[in-house]
Order: sequence, then C-alpha cells, then structure tokens
Amino acid sequence: MDTLTIALPKGRLQDQVMDMLTWLGYQFPLGALAGRKLIFNDQSDTLRFILAKPVDVPTYVEYGASDLGVVGLDVLREGKRDLLEPLRLGFGRCRLVLAGPPEVQGRNLRLMPHLRVATKYPNLTLDYFNQQGISAEIIPLSGSVELAPGVGLAEVLVDLVETGITLRDNGLVELDTLLESEAVLVVNRASHKLHLERIQALVNQLSSAVAQRNAGEQADDNT
Ligand code: PRP
Repeated sequence: MDTLTIALPKGRLQDQVMDMLTWLGYQFPLGALAGRKLIFNDQSDTLRFILAKPVDVPTYVEYGASDLGVVGLDVLREGKRDLLEPLRLGFGRCRLVLAGPPEVQGRNLRLMPHLRVATKYPNLTLDYFNQQGISAEIIPLSGSVELAPGVGLAEVLVDLVETGITLRDNGLVELDTLLESEAVLVVNRASHKLHLERIQALVNQLSSAVAQRNAGEQADDNT
C-alpha cells in the first residue's frame, strides 16, 4: 500500500492535527514531533508528514508533492490554488478583519483621499476593496501589520484576529470582517482520483474526530 503524504503547516495548526490523529489511534515515532525533521512517517507507514511554512502548504498539494494538506482558509483563499476542500477541521478559528484607529470608525472610506491599507493578504484585500467600490493602495507586509497605522505607513490594515489582544494593545478597532477562517483539509485533484478509497476513509475518520470535538465543545458551553 502506498503511503499517503500530508503537508502540515509548522506551528499551532500542526500540533492540533497531530492531536486529532493521535486521538484517532495513529502513533508517531518518539522524537518526530520534538526534533527538527521536516518529514516523517507514522508508525504504521500509512501516512507520511511533511512540515512546511503555512503559506507553502497549498503549493505542495497543488503540485502533487503532497496528496493532502492542512491549511488555514485565509491562506488558502489568498493563494487561490485549485484544490479539493473536503473538510473543515473546526480548529484554528480566527477572522480576517479590516481594522484601524478609532478615528476612522464611522468615516466613509470612499471619501478618504489616497487610502492606504497594510496587509499580509494583498489578494483578499484587493478583492474586498474592489467589491466595496473603494479605491485604495495596498501595502504588502510580511508581519506585525498592526504597526502600520501608528507609524504613518497606512490609514487602515487587514489582518487576522484571534483573541483581539494585538489590536487592542495597539489602539486599533475592528471596522469590518472579510473572512471567517479555520483549518481546512485540502486534497490534490489527481491524488483524489488515484487514492479515492483511502482518502475518503481518512476524510471520514477526521470527520468523526471533528464531530466528536464539536460535540465536546458544545457540552462545555452548556455547563
Ligand atoms: C497573528 C496576526 C495578528 C495576531 C492576532 O500574528 O497576524 O497579528 O496574530 O492575534 P490576537 O488577536 O490573538 O492578538 P502572528 O502572531 O502570526 O505574527 P505576525 O503579525 O508577525 O504575522
């Protein structure tokens, strides 16, 4: 039996996927998670994991270097890759928002001359501003986007919010939501045809883990 390859984003989402797979009974070699190996198999050799930068996961999967991948919906939509998306995984929830200083709240952005928007998501930001009919200059950054308004680089920004602490601590407020994001399982189109039954079986396993987890969260909410 061929080994299915799954590309995981290094970091928080990776840990949550491994927890879910462990809960499903998969076992991993000692040290696979603690070390710096970027590729390893589970104990039964049915799954091979490759650890990539989050933004690169869809690339590995679209080119077929990996059969499957886990990626945030924000990154997936920004990259516009052609992949199957059989399952939302219910963790890694966050929102992509338009934010700015409180003075901007309530102002009509269409009337602001030469509006500048700082973001790590230039494609989604451009789509949003086009849809809203607001003209703006997009200023791409690779991190710490919340700095931009305070230092005069941009009037507003588009970035992820999870707890809201980064916005609050930098004196910024949310103005609008562009996207609700969570981790998504993605599949290469050719792999899906080639390994239909195995991929479907894995999707079903993960789907039951997601349902179980969601049920647990609901029970917690009700106590
Ligand atoms: C992310 C995101 C926000 C922050 C939001 O940044 O880009 O800056 O987390 O989280 P919060 O709402 O819980 O405060 P990350 O830590 O990935 O660093 P970066 O800004 O350098 O990309």
